[in-house]
Amino acid sequence: MLFPTFSKSFSQETSMTHSKIIGPFTELLTMRNLPLKGALGDTQLEVIKQGALLIKNEIITEVGPFDALKSEFPQADIEELTAPNVAMPGFIDVHTHMCWAGSRARDYTLRTSGTPYLEIAKAGGGILDTVRQTRVASQETLTELLVQKCMRHLNEGVTTCEVKSGYGLTVADELKMLRAINGANKQHNIDIVPTCLAAHMPPQEFQGHSAEYLELILHELLPQIQKENLASRVDIFIEESAFTEREAEPYLRTAKAMGFSLAIHVDQFTAGSSLLACKLGAVSADHLEASTGREIEALAKSETIAVVLPGCSLGLGLNYAPARKLLDGGAALAIATDWNPGSAPMGDLLMQAAVLGAAEKLSATETFAGITTRAAAALERNDRGELSAGKRADFQVFPCDDYREILYNQGKLKASKIWKCGILVE
Ligand code: NIG
Ligand code: FE
Repeated sequence: MLFPTFSKSFSQETSMTHSKIIGPFTELLTMRNLPLKGALGDTQLEVIKQGALLIKNEIITEVGPFDALKSEFPQADIEELTAPNVAMPGFIDVHTHMCWAGSRARDYTLRTSGTPYLEIAKAGGGILDTVRQTRVASQETLTELLVQKCMRHLNEGVTTCEVKSGYGLTVADELKMLRAINGANKQHNIDIVPTCLAAHMPPQEFQGHSAEYLELILHELLPQIQKENLASRVDIFIEESAFTEREAEPYLRTAKAMGFSLAIHVDQFTAGSSLLACKLGAVSADHLEASTGREIEALAKSETIAVVLPGCSLGLGLNYAPARKLLDGGAALAIATDWNPGSAPMGDLLMQAAVLGAAEKLSATETFAGITTRAAAALERNDRGELSAGKRADFQVFPCDDYREILYNQGKLKASKIWKCGILVE
């Protein structure tokens, strides 16, 4: 069931002025006190039985047993819940292309019949097909289509998600996309983190002149993005069919010097570009399906977060990124949907994380951390992703009495209630 959307100002108007206790939760998974990097065992997962949260003005102020909080804070309002319910932080989807117009259902059937993704792209399908369909859509239409996807995402427990541009590929169309993304953020309760992916592909008008296109983005688009405060992150797709490492490096260096954080599409079909992400101090290196021992070692040594995208592997019918090896090597691992019209049309974060966990042998703690606390780090939003004092009260409850049911049901068990900034939104 879809729920009504509230404007963010509505949420703020109705936010409480005094404290409230929400609980009791059969189990409360706090996701706190976990290291950012490396493998995690389920003994590291804090599970508070009959737990509760004390919340004031959108922020968690105390976490503990329901009875203890009630006696310690007798003045607080109480939002009492019925059992069974397992509470955990709202999910954070750190890599999406959810803003697009049109459909690529034709590409998908071609792919399932055996035509490779890159071949479809060369024949005029692929990303440039969505570019054509997105360029003719108005900013208002793009906002509306994105809000619809945000409704589904929040309903499935995603309280923060990143959204990239990258289907405009002209200064005007990229600005239109980013304005549409920021418009959706204002209209919907989900928190959207926008990223400029104007360097998704060289547009047709710049075939053979990729470097000139990147110069245009640097000199005309990025300053305007800063002027309008439309995004603070820059992405580029490094691949033979998109941009080479040689083209990407000066582009990324300049964007970083301008103050943008870097989150980059690397090692999707060809290994190596994640080394550049580490060298440049990118916040995240995303995809990694082709990463080998060399790239895994570099990521593990770096502060760059490895973002894996199981929905893209499912959509393309290709292998998963080496999540287990990345964790064992010592890397920080986040898991995201890559929700887009081509390679990852499904967009179900919990289902994809659960399936990746089964394939790659991840502990429940590793899987949950990848879509909560470690995901928060990948978006540099350290105010969320765990349930502890000082964090935003973005959380959800599942209708079960044991947290293991959540991944066991492989995404089919959905949250029954979701709170954003301490307010019940579903
Ligand atoms: O992350 N690899 C590049 N970009 C997207 C696909 C976008 C599309 O096919 O429309 C990705 O998979
Ligand atoms: Fe992507």
